[in-house]
Amino acid sequence: MAAVGGRRIIPLVVFLVGLLILGGAILVQLSGTSNAPAPSAIGGPFTLTDQNGNTFTDKDLAGSPTLIFFGFTHCPDVCPTTLFEVSEVLRAAGSDADKVRVLFVSVDPARDTAAVLKDYIGSFDGRIIGLTGTQEQTDAIAKAYKVYARKIPTGDDPDEYTMDHTAIVYLLDKQGRFVNAFNLQRPPEEAARELSGYL
Ligand code: NI
Repeated sequence: MAAVGGRRIIPLVVFLVGLLILGGAILVQLSGTSNAPAPSAIGGPFTLTDQNGNTFTDKDLAGSPTLIFFGFTHCPDVCPTTLFEVSEVLRAAGSDADKVRVLFVSVDPARDTAAVLKDYIGSFDGRIIGLTGTQEQTDAIAKAYKVYARKIPTGDDPDEYTMDHTAIVYLLDKQGRFVNAFNLQRPPEEAARELSGYL
């Protein structure tokens, strides 16, 4: 670590602390023995733009349970898989799917314009909302949700890169409060039942 500049240590520490908080929150949820309020450590104010160019903020989270996850359209595997699995959950939820909200937030706003997002998520369930913003807006929501996102160069050109990013799908209740990390490693019908439980 000696080669790493001091200025880089602080974000790393912040990230690790974030991971610990999120990990602890998930453990509390998984233990399932308490009905304690969801930890307020996850979530917070944000302002983004959806794939149709409309503003979407944390205030818009009210009224419906939400699945929110982070990724980018150039993602080779994790994001398309997650989008597909979430689409399957919506299909399995039947008419309840119209009462839940699914948000795919880009961590690569430089490439993911609203138009690019619209084209990309068009391949998945039409109810999924794509969100992007300025780098500053993206950084703000990533910080609020303890999301890690980092550019990994894949060539000499600065435009050639992939992103390392948190792949957790967060379940929020109708008040926009974090409930738990939503498990997609189960039959879509089962996942849909959990989601319907928050309507
Ligand atoms: Ni991805």
